[in-house]
Amino acid sequence: MEVIIQPDALAASSLVARLVASELRANPYLVLGLATGRTMERVYQLLVAMHREEGLDFSLCRTFNLDEYVGLPPTHPGSFRYYMNEHLFKHVNVDPRNTHFPDGNAPDLEAECQAYEAKIRRFGGIDLQLLGLGRAGHIGFNEPLSALRSRTRVKALTPTTIEQNAPFFGGPDKVPRRAITMGVGTILEARRLILLATGSEKADIVAKAVEGPITAMISATALQLHPRCTVVVDEAAAARLQGSEYYRWIFENEPEWAPFRQHQP
Ligand code: GLP
Repeated sequence: MEVIIQPDALAASSLVARLVASELRANPYLVLGLATGRTMERVYQLLVAMHREEGLDFSLCRTFNLDEYVGLPPTHPGSFRYYMNEHLFKHVNVDPRNTHFPDGNAPDLEAECQAYEAKIRRFGGIDLQLLGLGRAGHIGFNEPLSALRSRTRVKALTPTTIEQNAPFFGGPDKVPRRAITMGVGTILEARRLILLATGSEKADIVAKAVEGPITAMISATALQLHPRCTVVVDEAAAARLQGSEYYRWIFENEPEWAPFRQHQP
């Protein structure tokens, strides 16, 4: 795992957007795993700007979202399909037929979960998976005690997650209680992972996810098992990390990061 500390949320989001863009330029057929949440909104804004200003091309790219609520129509403003349309898809030249979500309205949810896994496999697996970090340390909707080898399945949401996502629904009572999510095992199979976390309210959970012991109680700790995982944080979210000095040294000195340093967003 590598940790990159950026001065603020804008710089952190800009770095993530530039990493995505560089992968997409290198492989126009990229299979891109997408995440939702407030933290990702800025990343998508920056990718839209790169599409408009630099011609960043999404026409051949295929996308798979991490998760979707059970029982919400895709047109519901709280659904992740709606979120992705609003923040990214309708502003870039991605082919809507190449954008994939688990169907939370499928008559047989178990079969839908297996079909989603099969579809990911059919596309050759995910090349780059973006991840946000839930308040209790979940990735996707892999709530506490999610098996570290879990696959796509239905999960019941914790009160913390319901609270966290309540603003998208106008109150916790309106948040669906269940969601389909890629499993921790599914996520760990992506060739590259990039997690973005910003703000002081994430400082504790970032420290646990990155430097704490691996535990099914905090699914993000499983990222420590991945051979190519980059965690991008701002100073506020990095505040509780013990090894910051070392992480900064790596970013400033390792040649692979040279194209991504000292960028003024
Ligand atoms: C939801 C999503 C997660 C995301 C998390 C972070 O729970 N299912 O994939 O990581 O929100 O949200 P935010 O960026 O709003 O803190």
